Amino acid sequence: MLKIGIVLGSTRQGRVSPQVAEWVKGIADKRTDAEFEIVDIADYNLPFLGTTDGTEPGIAAWNEKLASLDGFVFVVQEYNHSITGALKNAIDFAREAWYNKAAGIVSYGSTGGARAAEHLRGILGEVKVADVRTHPTLSLFTDFENMSEFKPQDLHLDNVNAMLEEVVAWSGALKTLR
Ligand SMILES: Cc1cc2nc3c(=O)[nH]c(=O)nc-3n(C[C@H](O)[C@H](O)[C@H](O)COP(=O)(O)O)c2cc1C
Repeated sequence: MLKIGIVLGSTRQGRVSPQVAEWVKGIADKRTDAEFEIVDIADYNLPFLGTTDGTEPGIAAWNEKLASLDGFVFVVQEYNHSITGALKNAIDFAREAWYNKAAGIVSYGSTGGARAAEHLRGILGEVKVADVRTHPTLSLFTDFENMSEFKPQDLHLDNVNAMLEEVVAWSGALKTLR
């Protein structure tokens, strides 16, 4: 069975990403061709890359978690027109554990998080993660109440399912390369 991690891109207190990830997981769990789990960067207490000797147990645990997964769905939020520093740092903390895997992106922000998602696509290319085309974009204005309580519009459901279809197909295909 393929294993897909739903990665929370934000770590700040009061973040809305857990609500979005739970929603994605609820949709994904209806599938029978892959297993989905939420992967929270915050759980790994990663230091800022290069500021320590690299022996923190969270670094090894993060790499082990990534290595155990066949694909990813990144829950991406837009911070200053890009991804969070926490997500970039977490990506930088692994190399081979990313290689030859697939990913989808679900993003949110004032313009659907589109600018952050496009930055992430460039980064993923460098760590040999193949990002699928279909990209659900959620609006802070119309998919959240008071920009904090997640109430997604129904129209996103088809897009999430199409994205998951692509992620599972590509994750399976790329597994043959590894
Ligand atoms: C440091 C910072 C920068 C932000 N910059 C943007 C931005 O450039 N564009 C945007 O649409 N939203 C921006 N936002 C709003 C976030 O997208 C919004 O707060 C969102 O809820 C953050 O995701 P999180 O709750 O999971 O941390 C920014 C928020 C923060 C904290």
